[in-house]
Amino acid sequence: MCGIVGYAGSRNISEVLLQSLKRLEYRGYDSAGIAVVNGSLEVFKEKGDIDSLERKLPPLNGNVGIGHTRWATCGPPSRENAHPFVSQDNNIALVHNGIIENHIQLRRDLEKEGYSFTSETDTEVLVHLISKYYDGDLHKAVRRALRDVRGTYAIAAVEAHSEQIVVARNENPLVLGIGVSENFVASDVTAMLEYTSDVVYLLDGETAIVSPTGVSVYGPDGNVIYRPPSKVDWSVEEARKGGFEHYMLKEIFEQPHAISETLVGYLGEMEELNIIPHSKLDSMKILACGTSYNAGMVGKYIIEELTGIPVQVELASEYRYSKRTNHCPLVVLISQSGETADTLAACKEAKSRGSFTLAITNVVGSSITREADAVLMTHAGPEISVAATKTYTAQLVAMYILAGRLAHTTGHNSEEIRRLKASLRTLPLKVSEVLDRAADFKKASQIFRDARSVFFIGRNRNYPTMLEGALKMKEISYIHAEGYAAGELKHGPLALLDESTPLVAACLPDHTYDKMLTNVSEVAARGSPVLMIVEDGNTDCETIADYVIRLPAVDPLLSPVTLGVALQLLAYYVAKEKGLPIDKPRNLAKSVTVE
Ligand code: AGP
Repeated sequence: MCGIVGYAGSRNISEVLLQSLKRLEYRGYDSAGIAVVNGSLEVFKEKGDIDSLERKLPPLNGNVGIGHTRWATCGPPSRENAHPFVSQDNNIALVHNGIIENHIQLRRDLEKEGYSFTSETDTEVLVHLISKYYDGDLHKAVRRALRDVRGTYAIAAVEAHSEQIVVARNENPLVLGIGVSENFVASDVTAMLEYTSDVVYLLDGETAIVSPTGVSVYGPDGNVIYRPPSKVDWSVEEARKGGFEHYMLKEIFEQPHAISETLVGYLGEMEELNIIPHSKLDSMKILACGTSYNAGMVGKYIIEELTGIPVQVELASEYRYSKRTNHCPLVVLISQSGETADTLAACKEAKSRGSFTLAITNVVGSSITREADAVLMTHAGPEISVAATKTYTAQLVAMYILAGRLAHTTGHNSEEIRRLKASLRTLPLKVSEVLDRAADFKKASQIFRDARSVFFIGRNRNYPTMLEGALKMKEISYIHAEGYAAGELKHGPLALLDESTPLVAACLPDHTYDKMLTNVSEVAARGSPVLMIVEDGNTDCETIADYVIRLPAVDPLLSPVTLGVALQLLAYYVAKEKGLPIDKPRNLAKSVTVE
């Protein structure tokens, strides 16, 4: 997965390309490069992040250019494997996001025809292929080359003597930005927000020609398509740090707003939302990856509690290769980016198995919004930090909305629905109260100072929240963290607990509270440092815990939200204390568009 950009217009070319690439660094940051058209092609690439590239760039002139920030998939991070790739005659430069599955065979064929390669990448294969079919018309050559290609891609290509960028998309995001006498190309709208908010989303199989004076979109058959631009309502400020040290912290603090924004469109008419099938719902599945999977796990507990419908939660990467199971009337796909390859494939698979598919995503126009039968948008705004925070919380809100909608359909408990709605209205305020206590989390993070391994335990709906807490901790602090259902501790993991292995336990009021206390006492007796997360007014913690975090009282149904926010802050302060690159953890990228 990588980020691609393109610009056609009269601004300072290197400035626009670098600025846009910086907005896409969350998609990968192990090497970067740009190509600028200026009578010939000028190409610059570096290993490392965009700043490393910027330091090496001479002043550049030109009205057209493309750029790339890479997250290595095919060939290790290096200058040689960085994009753009250039054809042997130096006439065509190409950037690519995705994977060409048949690149080995194509490479062999091209080598036989005399093409030589300087990198290990699949992208270099594609630039030679385009060059092979080039007869003076780059758009035609790209379309012809892509007929030979199996795989996924978003590409942008330029040629030495033209002011056109040719782009194409198949299962990787690509957006065109429309300006006045200038136009833009990017993997994501955040890259172009400071220049334009008018965008055209390219669909699978489509190509486009972008120049300073216009944008033409072509369908898979080569015919011109007229697609009016959509307006993006995210402000530039929303997509920037706004005075916070890290995007992650800013995004954590934006959660009350993200919750309100997500609730606003749905709460009033929750019971009527047209997001579920008309057929009888006797079971459902939720499919997702990573943090979104954890949100789905919380959803399972909430939906089962409110509706009685059995919910199976599966990793999208497992579901897509599983054997056909019994017909499932509703499959919910959760993906903040809407571009995760495994989740998109799972969506297609679910449709082919005859299920009604509902996508929950944060990105308007993302691939999953087009793939699924219905969409429930979260409105968390742009999330830049690789670690998901506000989009996770917004996904939880979506889970409550879905649960309320399903509860209405199944005729369950209208009193519960009223209670849920009333509690949800208080949620932004409750989360603000958690954020007001950030200093407590910073203090409690001391428990992890020398830890190499840590356990997070909870029960019932707070068990998946602890899975998410552990994921956040390992992702940004690089401390090995395991999330466990508290009842499972004595079935193995207890053997690992000692004075050097802290335990974080969610002991919030619900029907499992007493059991949690017992589990925590068992661990404390073995000498592990214990951090208990309890509700205001709790006194049990005083005799058991080494550290205590207190959260404001909420409807127990909503405790995964306040607890989730607390765990995000905890992970943040641990990573900050260790001086780690919080927004861009090693080896990770924001949007995983490869398997
Ligand atoms: C979360 O902090 C991670 N960055 C990661 O687990 C993420 O949730 C996962 O890759 C799924 O992404 P998606 O929601 O965009 O599909």
